[in-house]
Amino acid sequence: MAAGHVETAPSMGQVEFNGYLIEQMISEHELHVITQRLADEIYRDFKGKDLLLIGILKGANLFLGDLARELGRGNAEIGRPPMPVELDFLQVSSYEQETSTHNVRKHIDISTEIKDRNVLLVEDILDTGHTLTWIKEQLKDREPKSLSVCVMLDKPERREVFLKPEYTGKIIPNKFVIGSGLDFNQQFRNLPYVGVVIGPSQSRTVAV
Ligand code: XMP
Ligand code: MG
Repeated sequence: MAAGHVETAPSMGQVEFNGYLIEQMISEHELHVITQRLADEIYRDFKGKDLLLIGILKGANLFLGDLARELGRGNAEIGRPPMPVELDFLQVSSYEQETSTHNVRKHIDISTEIKDRNVLLVEDILDTGHTLTWIKEQLKDREPKSLSVCVMLDKPERREVFLKPEYTGKIIPNKFVIGSGLDFNQQFRNLPYVGVVIGPSQSRTVAV
């Protein structure tokens, strides 16, 4: 730690990051187990078939990387061989700070032609459902062979439009979560676990 930095130790289950206390909700290990299970499910449904994963930026970037690696690694424990997939990304925004605006806008489109292809949308978190519903409608017009959804996290209590993902990592309570791609004002995305911001930490810099 840098000289002059005084820190109050966080309590059990809490971690200090960037001047904030974070309560851990899903550990790195649990995220790994979840991602491996999702890869097993996806393999079961798409083995031997063409599959394009489309990550929704920015939040799904880390989860998509982990999921793609799990598919590429295979799972020796259940005899699942490595599965090749293609990757693409699109970027939309529908959220300002902690409030969903329902006003989805596309900033970056995929560069892949998806007509007659199996497409799996990969998203960090499903909340009201407006973002994924809007994206699905846009992509359906391009006539993919199949269009399914994989989310790392789901907050079903918040749903405003019906949407049931084909693959769900974990159902969580109605809390604003950060980490593993999820942000608050663009911060906390690179936390390797998922947590909730408790508040500023006691850590402070003192003159020496
Ligand atoms: P909707 O409401 O359209 O929103 O399903 C999905 C998008 O909202 C963002 N979102 C969150 N981001 N922590 C975040 O960092 C959260 O708890 C959270 N809930 C929703 C997220 O960008 C997702 O793509
Ligand atoms: Mg998002």
